[in-house]
Parts: sequence; structure tokens; C-alpha cells
Amino acid sequence: MGTVINILGFAGSLRKGSYNRALLRAALDLTPREARLEIFDLEGIPPFSQDLESQMPERVREFKNKIKAADAVLFVTPEHNYSIPGVLKNAIDWASRPHGDNSFEGKPAAIMSASTGMLGGARAQYHLRQVCVYLNMFPVNKPEVFVSFAGQKFDEQGTLADEKTREFVKGLLEALVSWTKRLMTETVQK
Ligand SMILES: Cc1cc2nc3c(=O)[nH]c(=O)nc-3n(C[C@H](O)[C@H](O)[C@H](O)COP(=O)(O)O)c2cc1C
Repeated sequence: MGTVINILGFAGSLRKGSYNRALLRAALDLTPREARLEIFDLEGIPPFSQDLESQMPERVREFKNKIKAADAVLFVTPEHNYSIPGVLKNAIDWASRPHGDNSFEGKPAAIMSASTGMLGGARAQYHLRQVCVYLNMFPVNKPEVFVSFAGQKFDEQGTLADEKTREFVKGLLEALVSWTKRLMTETVQK
């Protein structure tokens, strides 16, 4: 058996009925066999304050350790006012700190989004890609998964019912796993 690729996924919404959280849950079933997806809930991450960096809150420490232990990261983001929600940005800001201890450093990533609107969170994704530049992360470019009109894609239990969307999510996870393996090989060869 080959190496298992460990992916840490988190969604930028705290809403109980969140479409993005539901999309992330759907990914559990659509992850390739050679990978394992663990979900981290951003609930409990306090607002960022640089004053607390020297004594990181316990939940932030836990988050940072999970990211560091993962081979790859899966971001699932809503779009708020054409950008990523404060909840997600806040968590990213914590995990990128303190200076010199960016937990995301060099990690491969995949991004997907769900929105009730027509563009499926595309604008938020491109803002997140910009953030990834500073974090020195390597997001896969394709496929891009934008779940538009999210209210029509999930059933009442929050299960991703739309078959086409399930195929897109599966394709993104496959791309993330092969991209991660490629980056791992290049790191070993260096
Ligand atoms: C503060 C706020 C701003 C929003 N801005 C946008 C937006 O810019 N673009 C968009 O497509 N949807 C926007 N929406 C609608 C969200 O796509 C919708 O609420 C979605 O369900 C949020 O994701 P969630 O279900 O995972 O919580 C906004 C919603 C909120 C609460």
C-alpha cells in the first residue's frame, strides 16, 4: 500500500445549516481511497489579537497542529460581500502566526465554494487564491468547483444531492491528491 495522503478540510461558515459545511461533509465520501479527509470546525476560534500570539488560545494551537500534520488543505468557503468571510480570514490569520511559524507554509491546497448566488462564490475563491500567495501555499488550479444556487443542490438533510456537483467535488479531490503526491516527490528529490 502507498502513502496515505492526509487532508485537513475546514469551512468558513459557522451556520448550522451551512451549505459550505454540507459541501465539506460531502467530500468525506468523495475522497480517493489513498487519502483521508479530516474536518476541523472553526467554531471556538476567537477573534485574532496579536497580543495573544505569545500565548496562543488552545483551540488555535489545536488548529495549527492539525494543519502542520496534514499533507494538504481543503478550503471550503462561502462568499461574503464578494470576498472570503471574516470567520475564515480570522482563522487563516491565526494559523499564519506568529511570524516565522506559518502553519500553511508550502502546503498544497484545494478550494471550493457554495453560494446561493449565480457565481457560486467565484469572487471569494480568487481572493482566497491571493491570500495563498502570501501564505506560500500551492492551490490546484483546475478543476474549479463553484456550487451556485446552493439551495437547489442539497436535500433537507444537508446531503449533496446533485450528481454533477458530486462529480466535480470528486474530481477536485483527485486532483488535490495527485498534486500533493507530485509536490512530495519533488521535495524528496531536492
Ligand atoms: C454577510 C453576507 C454577505 C453575502 N455576500 C454574498 C456575496 O457577495 N456573494 C454571494 O454569492 N453570496 C453572498 N451571500 C449569500 C451567501 O452565499 C449565502 O448566505 C450562503 O448560504 C452562505 O454560505 P453558508 O450557507 O455556508 O453559510 C452573503 C451572505 C451574507 C450573510
